[in-house]
Order: sequence, then structure tokens, then C-alpha cells
Amino acid sequence: MDAQRRNQYLEAIGVDVWVRRRGVQVVPDVTGAPSTSVQVARAAAEMVLPAPEAPAADLASRWEALRSEVISCTKCSLHSARTQGVFGVGHQGADWLVIGEAPGAEEDRRGEPFVGRAGHLLDAMLRAIGLSRATNAYIANVLKSRPPGNRDPKPEEVAACLPYLMRQIQLLQPRLMLAVGRIAAQNLLATDMPLGRLRGKVHHFGELNTPLIVTYHPAYLLRTPADKRKAWEDLKFARSVFRQLTEGVRNDGDRS
Ligand code: URA
Repeated sequence: MDAQRRNQYLEAIGVDVWVRRRGVQVVPDVTGAPSTSVQVARAAAEMVLPAPEAPAADLASRWEALRSEVISCTKCSLHSARTQGVFGVGHQGADWLVIGEAPGAEEDRRGEPFVGRAGHLLDAMLRAIGLSRATNAYIANVLKSRPPGNRDPKPEEVAACLPYLMRQIQLLQPRLMLAVGRIAAQNLLATDMPLGRLRGKVHHFGELNTPLIVTYHPAYLLRTPADKRKAWEDLKFARSVFRQLTEGVRNDGDRS
């Protein structure tokens, strides 16, 4: 991507871009945020994935079957207040899986993750590293139903819902996972470590040992624009890790 185009993306996500006189672009640095403990999630996160069955012809129908289960799921009490379960969106052959927390009001209404203000920022963040939900990224949430008033998910809700995400991961088999926000990161990594300590390194997830990188939630970034620069560092780090995985290009190493 050329520098001018990248700067346009950075402006779109609200990252100030300083340009040195000789045209070298400078963008900043890393750190952190809060916590909860999530014991119940551990079991689901460690759940053994079923062996890949799947002649490719079956894949579409397995996606579809999973989607209909999720949309009409009643496994936890959230189903009684939501409009619909929100499954996931994106390319089913995507190498990148982006994981958020839970649907908000707009997502609940439209049945698609990240379609509100935070979603627009997420799309811009992804575009900045050459990703889009139409081509090479899949987007899903830890919870498929909206918690009332957008409160934090309860452990029993996460425990009920996480197996759906595990099945999405099994179908997608992403090369890289990007957890956006504390709730997604802590539940996927079964930790209550603050977000700031989870950023800047490559974690691994599940039986497939999928590399997982953590960054800020776009809704947090809308409230705290000063941290957009740190998010940009995370995105560049994720992109370099992905390149290393797929092209053998050296990444910047852990930044911790
Ligand atoms: N926040 C999330 O974590 N997920 C969504 O789908 C929307 C907002």
C-alpha cells in the first residue's frame, strides 16, 4: 500500500500522521487497560476441537447449519431480550478472524456484528492493513446475543456461547486471530490480565495453536482517541506477524 493511501486510512481512523520533511512517516507506541476473571470460559477455550471432517462441498452447509443454530439459540437467558442471535460476517475463506465482545443495539437489530459506530471504525482499522470483511477477514463476537444495556457478559453466558465461536474457528481455520478489547482477549486467553499486558505479543489459541494478537476495542478508541496510535502499532504488529506466517518475512518480534 502506498504512503498516501495509508495516510488516508490513518486519517480515517483518527490517527494523527506526522510527516518528516523528507517524507518519512512517523507513528507511535504501546500499553494498557482493566480486568475481570473468567473461570468458566477456560473449559470452553480449552475444549478439544473436533478433527477436521469436511470435504469442501460440505463446508457451506455446515456454516449454514451453525448460523441457524446461533440465530435461534436459547442456551442462556440473553435470548429473551434480544432481537436475534448475531452470527458473524465476512469471507468464509478468510485468513484473519477478528473477535469482538458482543452485539450492541444496532447489531442486534440488523443481525450483523460491528455495524454501528464502532463497526465503522473497525472497518477503517482493518482497511488500514489491507483487510475487509468482503475479502479476507471474518468478524465474530464472543457472545452472539446482546446483553441488556451493553453490560459485560456474565461467565455463564460466555460459557454457553463460546462453543459457537469454537465451531466458527474450526470451520474457518484462520491463520491469525485478532481479539479486539478486554472482554474478547480475556475470555479467549482465559486470563484476567489487563489488556495492556496482553498487547504486543503473539498468543496462541486452541488446539490449532492459532496465533492471536490483542488490541483495543474500537468502541474504547472512540471514547479514548489518544490510544488510536497504540492500536495502529498493534495493527502493524499483527500485519507483520501475518506476513511472517505466510511469506516468511521477519516480523518486528514481541514488543513487550
Ligand atoms: N461491539 C462488539 O464487540 N461487537 C459488535 O458486534 C459490536 C460492538
